[in-house]
Amino acid sequence: MKDFSGKLPKLKLGKHEPRFPLIQGGMGVRISGPRLAGAVAKAGGVGTIASVGLAVCSPLYDGTNYFEVNKTVIREDIAEAKRIAPEGVVAVNAMVALTDYEDHVRSACEGGVDVIISGAGLPLKLPEITADYPDVALVPIVSTTKAARIINRRWEKQFGRLPDGFIVETPLEAGGHLGVTRPEQVTDKDFSLEHVVPELVAYLEKEVGVDIPVIAAGGLWDRQDVMRMFRLGAKGVQMGTRFAATVEGDASQEFKDILINAKEEDVVVIKSPVGIPGRVLKTPFVEKYIAGRVKSKPCFANCLSHCAYRNERKAFCIAQALVDAFRGDYEEGLFFCGTNVSRVTRMEKVEEIFKDIFGFVA
Ligand SMILES: Cc1cc2nc3c(=O)[nH]c(=O)nc-3n(C[C@H](O)[C@H](O)[C@H](O)COP(=O)(O)O)c2cc1C
Repeated sequence: MKDFSGKLPKLKLGKHEPRFPLIQGGMGVRISGPRLAGAVAKAGGVGTIASVGLAVCSPLYDGTNYFEVNKTVIREDIAEAKRIAPEGVVAVNAMVALTDYEDHVRSACEGGVDVIISGAGLPLKLPEITADYPDVALVPIVSTTKAARIINRRWEKQFGRLPDGFIVETPLEAGGHLGVTRPEQVTDKDFSLEHVVPELVAYLEKEVGVDIPVIAAGGLWDRQDVMRMFRLGAKGVQMGTRFAATVEGDASQEFKDILINAKEEDVVVIKSPVGIPGRVLKTPFVEKYIAGRVKSKPCFANCLSHCAYRNERKAFCIAQALVDAFRGDYEEGLFFCGTNVSRVTRMEKVEEIFKDIFGFVA
């Protein structure tokens, strides 16, 4: 345990400093769009737009121009979030595993984003892609200190710089794709925040010697959870599930209601078509997948660099299933969620969450 006075740490991500040390996690497809990110940024946190699959929800998309429209919508969404929170800190979450990852990062920079958050693979080339935008803070998501070491070494050697923060996301509780390869690692205590956060903080302090904030993610809900992370040495927290069904959340009302009605026993971990585990709700679609009789909709965009459905016609088109979830289709959708989903019992307002955790809003 670190010596901790109970005072909130200052979360500094490069040149950007939100009022509160809380990042709302990027949630795709379009669960965290500009409305949610704008509301969080306005309340004093870091509001994050998930860049994945945005074209599908845009009137500009005509079925053939997926990659072009993605770029346009990323820029439009940042402008909208900034309109809601002109003084706020806005991030884009871009997943390394996407075919058009580099375009997402570039479009976010062109659109005036403050922070790029990047996981689902190691963002080893991120400094090169963002080289013309030195004010944009770069924050990789990792599950282990080993991954952080690899990123640090590569960035320092090739680009002469280090990340502006590390998000440690634990596979034990987080929603969405989990940063481990084998199913048994999802319950392995070596991947707990209690283990990895202090280890990564110690490595950064003692071996790297540069003040890089560590941000804890996965299974965090209230003030007590957040304070526990600060005592472990984290300078910030990232939360997803609690924000997914907020009033300002960008998903459909049906999506939010499905999360609100979910029980603890409805949460399962499946092997995603991307090849790694993912934590989801056990909906009819997931039950069919587990039983080996799911029927996939066609691959519509070749959106992932590794996809079992596109390559071998195994599993299902995850982009399509996530879009169906965003629209609130209980039968066909894939609903990502953290272990905390049973605590989502109503639509909260973003401001309420900040008041509950920090006592007041910005
Ligand atoms: C519906 C949903 C979608 C998500 N989509 C993404 C994503 O597109 N990219 C990503 O890096 N993380 C994604 N995540 C993970 C969140 O950003 C966040 O780190 C995680 O949910 C934290 O755990 P918590 O839900 O227990 O708070 C998603 C999580 C949820 C619940």
